[in-house]
Amino acid sequence: MQQDIGDRDKMEKRPYAENRKIAKALLNTRIWNSDCIIGMKKLRPKSVDVVITSPPYNIGTQYKTYKDNIGRSDYLSWMKEVGSQIKRVMNDDGSFFLNMGSKPTDPWVPWEVAMQMREIFSLQNVIIWVKSISISRNDVGNYGKITDDISVGHLKPINSNTYLGKNHEYIFHFTKSGHLNLDKLSVGTKYQDKSNIKRFHKEKDLRDRGDVWFIPYKTIRSSGQERPHPASFPPKLPEMCIKLHGVERVKTVLDPFMGIGNTAIASVSLGIKCIGFDIDNYYCEYTEKRLNEIFTGN
Ligand SMILES: C[S@@+](CC[C@H](N)C(=O)[O-])C[C@H]1O[C@@H](n2cnc3c(N)ncnc32)[C@H](O)[C@@H]1O
Repeated sequence: MQQDIGDRDKMEKRPYAENRKIAKALLNTRIWNSDCIIGMKKLRPKSVDVVITSPPYNIGTQYKTYKDNIGRSDYLSWMKEVGSQIKRVMNDDGSFFLNMGSKPTDPWVPWEVAMQMREIFSLQNVIIWVKSISISRNDVGNYGKITDDISVGHLKPINSNTYLGKNHEYIFHFTKSGHLNLDKLSVGTKYQDKSNIKRFHKEKDLRDRGDVWFIPYKTIRSSGQERPHPASFPPKLPEMCIKLHGVERVKTVLDPFMGIGNTAIASVSLGIKCIGFDIDNYYCEYTEKRLNEIFTGN
């Protein structure tokens, strides 16, 4: 399982106060087997701080219940309705992180969905989520010490002479104002050249990571057994989104398309309660089971 955070052995090493916060977040987390629009209509206005979600991409993914190939205009209108509900339930200083991918034959879909949101939110950042990358020794030059070409992460092979394999997706970061202050250093990266810390008058060895995030999936042995969902993201992705928004000002996280609960795992790990919806009861039960296993050992 892809448990970058929330691993049980890591839990046991956490200080008592942190584990208490996590236990409270778990107790207040709610996973609902419901259509997300119906579910969100029951939430109070401005009652969530961060929304992180990956909706169906309408590219024919084989979910257990949901049919992922509806007419394009129906799909886009549905996404717009989802966006409107998110706006209603999100507070004015909230962040909405929308993860969207595509298939090689239909590369426009993430941008078409983003365009639906354009009428509702401001697009504050576009983050590229890189799932795998190949680096050539010659390109790295003086910056690193690699002695050979390397590839990190998994690229799903495609049988085509026309299209390149897809090893990235988008995370569109929407806000209401378009200029929300972020906690960039919470997902920052260390300076390569340490002399820059002094030169730029920085207190810490941390700099802006930028808008390309390399988050590989963990290696699994058999997809059916260990990743029982065809389109999940690693928990590290929502973890980074919550941190970027600023953990201290997040009381509630929402994922309208929860799948197997990776947003909830990230959220609870950070001591924040989460509300999740999924139309599929199997995924909801699986999420509950995972949360209990990770955070209580039951
Ligand atoms: C791309 S997946 C989300 C995966 C999730 N991010 C994870 O890491 O497991 C989209 C999910 O939306 C769910 N879904 C489809 N229609 C829905 C609806 N109307 N309301 C709520 N969930 C829905 C599907 O069952 C599927 O699990």
